[in-house]
Amino acid sequence: MTDTGPKVSTRGRSAPPTDPRPRTGPGTDLERGDVVVELRGTEVPPEEDDTALTGIVSSAMLMHAVSALVGLGVIDALADGPLPLTDLARRLQVEEDRLLIVVRPATVAGLLRENGPDLFTLSPSGERLRADDPSGLRDLFHMCTYGDFLQAWTHLEEAIRTGRTAFELHTGRELFGYLGDNREEATIFHRAMNASAPVPALLERADLPHQGTVADLGGGEGAALATILRARPHLEGILFDLPEVVEGAAPLLRAEGVDRRCTTVGGSFFDRVPPGADVYLMTRVMQNWSDADALRILRNVREAMHDTSRLLITGHLPERERPSRYLEAMSLSMFVLYGAPLRTSERYEELFHRAGLTLRAVHRVPEGESIMDVRRAP
Ligand SMILES: C[S@@+](CC[C@H](N)C(=O)[O-])C[C@H]1O[C@@H](n2cnc3c(N)ncnc32)[C@H](O)[C@@H]1O
Repeated sequence: MTDTGPKVSTRGRSAPPTDPRPRTGPGTDLERGDVVVELRGTEVPPEEDDTALTGIVSSAMLMHAVSALVGLGVIDALADGPLPLTDLARRLQVEEDRLLIVVRPATVAGLLRENGPDLFTLSPSGERLRADDPSGLRDLFHMCTYGDFLQAWTHLEEAIRTGRTAFELHTGRELFGYLGDNREEATIFHRAMNASAPVPALLERADLPHQGTVADLGGGEGAALATILRARPHLEGILFDLPEVVEGAAPLLRAEGVDRRCTTVGGSFFDRVPPGADVYLMTRVMQNWSDADALRILRNVREAMHDTSRLLITGHLPERERPSRYLEAMSLSMFVLYGAPLRTSERYEELFHRAGLTLRAVHRVPEGESIMDVRRAP
């Protein structure tokens, strides 16, 4: 056979969608051993070839590479600028070739860049994984890839079949009860929450008052409330969460210099909520509960509100007409951890109506945490 040079396959075009492997052998363009080159610009949409699936398979593996990358200290070592592989390996005390095993995939994943041969630096996305990055994504990533939080996902199929919560199937406990008895996991969970509290949107869009009282319900260790109180020096705060959680809040509130303006109250919003605040805040709380539980909480909040109180609920709000990969994944995550997928604002409106509340406004943050401004129904 005369060598006419490598034949080229534009993957997905030369094979039907049901069998996306490049065909070789008689009657096809390709012979075994031909070089397959992808042509950019002629690619077909991912759903028509195998890239959607290979992307998902790769992500499952790359997630662990990123976890190892952070654990080995690669991100922190590159925080001050590019380093040659040799220096990186020496600094981390890891053998060079083995280090490359996680460094190379991280460049393909877009977290690292290779500026020159074996010279690595953080990409803008990689910067988000730095310990001092304000996005909090590193702590959130750590939680998602750690121990029982990660392993609970293996029960998703059973959870769908039975309606039980994957986290409970895995650990035998509902998440917040489990956290009460597992210090290490509780620390990881609350660190992830503290680091990623969605406060900038609240301050920019929710028209928070400058005076009066804000009660943060399910406020965790107070990271969101502390930031709000710092930005509003005449506002008073009430931090409300489970007793074992608010017990751990003092150091953060003191460090932020707001402890004198903030009362901590331990309790359950299934029993009662501190009455009479001007603003009730629930950040990333309502999405943790089934409709029946959410209704009980909302009725208790309504009971505590006075006529002009506002209830500000923040959380992801998927939109059916604008499906988002990220929000669909977050919805799955809520289902795995808490047994309740994300709700649309329309679903929330139904719950508000049943609880004697009314939705006044929605401040949408696409892909982020939106804010619903809720009042007592007349
Ligand atoms: C997903 S975290 C959100 C924490 C915080 N609001 C934030 O955005 O970072 C949910 C919070 O609800 C609290 N929580 C769970 N059950 C509760 C209950 N029955 N009463 C009050 N708080 C509760 C948890 O302890 C946790 O701090």
